[in-house]
Amino acid sequence: MINIQAATEADLDAILDIENLSFLSPSSRREMESELLRSAPHKEGPLFMRCKSDTPIRMKPAEEYHPDMRDSVANEVSRFFTARYDGVICGYIIFWLVLDEVHLISIAVHPEYRRRKIASKLFQFMLDYVKPGPKSVYLEVRPSNEDALDFYRKMGFEETGLRKKYYPNGEDAVLMKLCIPS
Ligand SMILES: CC(C)(COP(=O)(O)OP(=O)(O)OC[C@H]1O[C@@H](n2cnc3c(N)ncnc32)[C@H](O)[C@@H]1OP(=O)(O)O)[C@@H](O)C(=O)NCCC(=O)NCCS
Repeated sequence: MINIQAATEADLDAILDIENLSFLSPSSRREMESELLRSAPHKEGPLFMRCKSDTPIRMKPAEEYHPDMRDSVANEVSRFFTARYDGVICGYIIFWLVLDEVHLISIAVHPEYRRRKIASKLFQFMLDYVKPGPKSVYLEVRPSNEDALDFYRKMGFEETGLRKKYYPNGEDAVLMKLCIPS
């Protein structure tokens, strides 16, 4: 049974485990904490209701975070959700809502849980969440990340271009776009 819920600070260790097992240049704890903070203002609103989460939401007040991170509180574009399989956090998705576009920032599933349609469910959740509204989803992905390219093509994305030397190791990024079906 897969459940999707708004991510909380209590989920951070599990999220970082998945992150470290999934990416060449994983995000740091601080970056993930910052992303959580950005998505926090939405957790007590309609989004929280929609997730039917029974996890109590407890975020630190902004002033308790490092000064570099406080600006994040004002950024209300981010959404951050986890997927649980039989109660265990096995994946997550982060996306940003920017004007009429969705930017898929990150999606990852723990290696032991892959090919069980968990990423597909997270992705479909995102599409349901943003409707009606944005008409397209954009993302960047490494050309060497064949698993992700296959996944995104399966979800209906098309390649639209390359961003040269986008990644810290100098690798280009493949730009992909999906037109959200109405
Ligand atoms: C890409 C990723 C998120 C897919 O997660 P997942 O839960 O295994 O994906 P799903 O089970 O929902 O796969 C749906 C479909 O996508 C395609 N797909 C997914 N992983 C694939 C792989 N390794 N090889 C080929 N096709 C793949 C398949 O068509 C699959 O359907 P099928 O299993 O019926 O053939 C996962 O491999 C992952 O976490 N990778 C590391 C992190 C990453 O690269 N994230 C994306 C960049 S931000």
